[in-house]
Amino acid sequence: MLPQEIIKAKRDGKTLSREQIAYFVQGITNGKVTNEQIGAFAMAVYFNGMAMPERVALTEEMMNSGRVVSWDGFDLPGPIVDKHSTGGVSDSVSLMLGPMVAACGGYVPMIAGRGLGHTGGTLDKFESIPGYNIQPSQEDFQRIVKEIGVAIIGQTAEIAPADKRFYSIRDVTATVDSIPLITASILSKKLSAGLESLAMDVKTGNGAFMTSLDDSRALANSIVAVANGAGVKTSATITDMNQALGDTAGNATEMREAIEYLTGVRRNPRLHEVTMTLCGQMLLLSGIARTKDEAEFKLNQVLDNGKAAEVFGKMVHALGGPADFLENWQGYLPKAPVVMPVYADAPGYISEVATRELGLVVVTLGGGRSNPADSIDHAVGLTDIQPIGTYVDSERPLAFIHARDDVSAAAAAVELKASIALSENLPKLDPVVYETISPEQAQI
Ligand code: URA
Repeated sequence: MLPQEIIKAKRDGKTLSREQIAYFVQGITNGKVTNEQIGAFAMAVYFNGMAMPERVALTEEMMNSGRVVSWDGFDLPGPIVDKHSTGGVSDSVSLMLGPMVAACGGYVPMIAGRGLGHTGGTLDKFESIPGYNIQPSQEDFQRIVKEIGVAIIGQTAEIAPADKRFYSIRDVTATVDSIPLITASILSKKLSAGLESLAMDVKTGNGAFMTSLDDSRALANSIVAVANGAGVKTSATITDMNQALGDTAGNATEMREAIEYLTGVRRNPRLHEVTMTLCGQMLLLSGIARTKDEAEFKLNQVLDNGKAAEVFGKMVHALGGPADFLENWQGYLPKAPVVMPVYADAPGYISEVATRELGLVVVTLGGGRSNPADSIDHAVGLTDIQPIGTYVDSERPLAFIHARDDVSAAAAAVELKASIALSENLPKLDPVVYETISPEQAQI
């Protein structure tokens, strides 16, 4: 077999065999396939697509290019289940969801990512907790999942190395936005945690990877078909990203929103709806609940009786954070020296949010990255972000900026105001949750 013959077959619109895909992926991993060949292959897939069996093969071969966690011999008394989001602004769902599902009897080995560009990353949010170790040993990771029910950690170099190289070449060859390649890239990493079921959150809107509902549906369908084809019971829920999900953005700021949610201090309605929907999917897919009502009942129970918050506190401590973090988080999370309300220039209803640009305000403040290697300021960000439909005026700010200094606060305020449009009348509101594609509904 020759890489150029495989590229030629895909260029000419043929369907690749499992052997051809396995050969190419091995070449990506061991360096025998060149960067030029990988770029050409990606472009051929970009234009000619891949049938579902090819996508399953690409996913499995990339997953098997690295370490796949095995739970054999662990005797977990409950199902292994996780969630993944395609990424958005103010999306702190994972912070609550892992502990909530664990408190209901699930086992959640969550391998999460960092923020890049305008989107936030779960790992960065956890790193705002002093001592929290996102890179425990494999043994500790599995032990913590077994003992506590959840561990949220970072990806290691051992996970899907083929995807790492493939993605970096897609990034510079205009081939990231290919649904077969996105599907295989996401799932090769996610399924390497040895999952039995997975709830996907596919964001749609101007702050999402897929801006149109049709593209989001196509990605959701592809992910559901491929993950189920790879033996992992998976659904995909399409949720709104035409504005911030919660009312905070940043790292310590979102951690604070998550703790207040878990401890019942306050629950942003949009964030609550998405969190409950995705947790519900996890309970249904994994068989912990048989109906949506039962799932909701169980989830409300662990929120109300404090069990979800307790699991969160135990996980933080097991991964190196303070034992009393849940009680004394205010003293542990970093605070920005400048906190400033930002008011609209004239009163009106918030009618539209340029969500990508809103996310970039956090980057301007130093809370996000332009390059994967950049370091970030965990204290900065936004709080009290008002949703679409809110009437704002000289009394009610659009949001509060948390900044390192006055200069960055002023620059962020200009960007924040530019990202929000106002109208005289109450605008039409989009749904927060659009639809769920169940394992049975995927079109192969
Ligand atoms: N996230 C990934 O991990 N891979 C993609 O291709 C796109 C988003």
